[in-house]
Amino acid sequence: MRIPKIRDYVIKNLKYIMKPRSIAIIGAAREPGKIGNQVVKNLIDGGFNGKIYPINPKADQILGLKAYPTVKAVPDDVDLAIIVVPARVVKSVIQDCVEKKVKGIVVITSGFSEVGNRELEDEIVSMCRKYKIPLIGPNVVGVLNATQKVNASFGPKLPYKGKIGFVSQSGALVIALIGWTWNQRVGMSTIVSIGNKADVDFSELIVYFAEEDPDTNAVALYIEGLDAGPEFVEACKRASKKIPIVALKAGISERGSLAAMSHTGSMAGSARIYRAVFKQAGVILAENLEDLYDRSLALSLQPPARKDLIMVITNGGGAGVISTDAAEKYGIPLQDTPRDLVPKMKQYMPPFGSAKNPVDLTGMARPEDYYGAVVDALKHPEVGGVVVLYCHTAITNPMDLAKKMYEASKVAENENKPLVVCFIGGEEVDRASIWLKENGVPTYPSPMRAMSAMGALREYGRLLEKL
Ligand code: COA
Repeated sequence: MRIPKIRDYVIKNLKYIMKPRSIAIIGAAREPGKIGNQVVKNLIDGGFNGKIYPINPKADQILGLKAYPTVKAVPDDVDLAIIVVPARVVKSVIQDCVEKKVKGIVVITSGFSEVGNRELEDEIVSMCRKYKIPLIGPNVVGVLNATQKVNASFGPKLPYKGKIGFVSQSGALVIALIGWTWNQRVGMSTIVSIGNKADVDFSELIVYFAEEDPDTNAVALYIEGLDAGPEFVEACKRASKKIPIVALKAGISERGSLAAMSHTGSMAGSARIYRAVFKQAGVILAENLEDLYDRSLALSLQPPARKDLIMVITNGGGAGVISTDAAEKYGIPLQDTPRDLVPKMKQYMPPFGSAKNPVDLTGMARPEDYYGAVVDALKHPEVGGVVVLYCHTAITNPMDLAKKMYEASKVAENENKPLVVCFIGGEEVDRASIWLKENGVPTYPSPMRAMSAMGALREYGRLLEKL
């Protein structure tokens, strides 16, 4: 059911879903491998340190925890009810939740509007709205909060901990991507799968992350379709004053749009209309899943670029040329090196290097040359941000360079300017990149991806200038 407006009670009560103190799993199945059983196991294995109440009328214990026949029998307050019973039983257990005064509900169960069963979906939403209980779902994988160690889902594990709040209309996709958060060290605070978004929609979650969740610095969205366009625009405008929002819109081809309809019952709509809506809302777009991760990682770790002049510092001409093309594509066309910065850059290169932007320190560049050039660029008042490109050479140990770039990132932090790094090479380089990301520096394997990340940081900077 379309949200009537952005509701304050939902924004305030979402903390009970994202950071619950007690969770009841209604439909906590006895058999390992069934979804209801896995949710209980995930909560335990994830290290949740609140109370876990399995609900199953046929069991006394589930995974060593005392089970209760109904949620009403739990001798304690319940912040969050996770519902994993078949669709035909959902209405009656929601009635129990209402009577128990649970503070938030997540319905994992499928079989609602996505298969034409809209009447039942509307009924459960009306019940929850009447009693001001926010409901996430139905047809979701659950909610995962890495900072609070809440894996209230049937996802494989909690994501790598970080500062991105990820809201996805696809559940299966988002849990599959948990593997990426670890491989690529793309840190998430929270992952919410919203499925049919029958009650709580993108809008309220976006405002929650911006205003109520200090653990989140950027919001990433996977969108198939929006039902409440004006509320979405209002929420994004409100939230983007505080945090950046990046979105991937899927289902833009004719057939993709039909696929979205049968997946989550969403009207996908034309790409042109969506682009206009996102622009009006101040949402930064991502081209694909990798780009969604790349851009949200940079935005979650770095401040926005407040000026157009982005300096690129490289040890390889080719990487510099690719980044120059990419800069145009991502709305940050490279400008000349400021005149007074040229002699400073020249200190760090042999005579055959180039102080033009991109600055080519040449293949002879040592970590201290990079450090000097990056720091001088960051300190220049006209510079908005710096992108470092490194092509692996035998004369520079990638980890030594990573350590110097970490030091440079501290200077960037003091200057309140973004630093983005691109390390190109094999395993040794990957290890250094991971180390840098673990230490808060967004690092990418190609110039294109690094420039997209910096483009997003500048886009957010421009957006803030307009607000
Ligand atoms: N209160 C509490 N538990 C109840 C109950 C009630 N009123 N009624 C039934 N249960 C219990 C059952 O006894 C069962 O436990 P048991 O196995 O120990 O007997 C448990 O709830 C689950 O019921 P069951 O009938 O076995 O269903 P299931 O586990 O096969 O399927 C769902 C339930 C919710 C997983 C399934 O209907 C579903 O929707 N699956 C798709 C989920 C999904 O993919 N979501 C979207 C992801 S993107």
